[in-house]
Amino acid sequence: MRIERECSRDYRVPGTELTLPAGTLVAMPVITMHRDPDYFPDPMRFDPDRFLPEEKEKRHPCVYMPFGSGPRNCIAQRFALFEIKVALACVLRDCRLETAPATPPAPLRLEPTAFLSTPADPVRVRVVPRTDRPASGGSRPAAEAPTESVPASRPTESDPAPRPATTAQ
Ligand code: HEM
Repeated sequence: MRIERECSRDYRVPGTELTLPAGTLVAMPVITMHRDPDYFPDPMRFDPDRFLPEEKEKRHPCVYMPFGSGPRNCIAQRFALFEIKVALACVLRDCRLETAPATPPAPLRLEPTAFLSTPADPVRVRVVPRTDRPASGGSRPAAEAPTESVPASRPTESDPAPRPATTAQ
């Protein structure tokens, strides 16, 4: 995923000899910042504490911007985050997700030609019914038998084709 902005005026990049003329389209590959160890030590480690308020205060707000930034950022950021949490809660209420022999090993390989961050291989996981939830815990009964491994996510033919490179020369 990259975020693009067009220069509205000539802009000298601080600390360099580079001047971007007005009209230049600048593409920012945000994943490179999200995985930059200068900002996120051991970036591939799952560490939710990185997002504690005191940790976020230590870095520039534009270092992590999965929904973009500024007046043209994603209009659905709150909706998308809420939707993801509801979907996870619905699944995890009834099931545990475990790795299986078919689960690709970490680190996840991404499809280099996809516009969005898309796994290069199907991420197959084992879906195991939870036995530890109280019987009255929800309106739906827990599943009774493990289901087959299913791809949690896979590249689709409908993924948009990559756009031409637009990075400033
Ligand atoms: C996890 C889910 C999502 C992610 C990570 C995401 C990410 C993004 C990003 C990076 C941008 C560009 C922001 C920028 O240039 O600064 C964007 C723009 C946008 N997104 Fe999302 N988005 C998500 C879900 C959604 C959903 C569910 C909707 C609509 C229901 C939506 C509607 C839009 C719209 C309309 C824009 C263009 C805003 C503008 O140009 O002013 N997004 N999104």
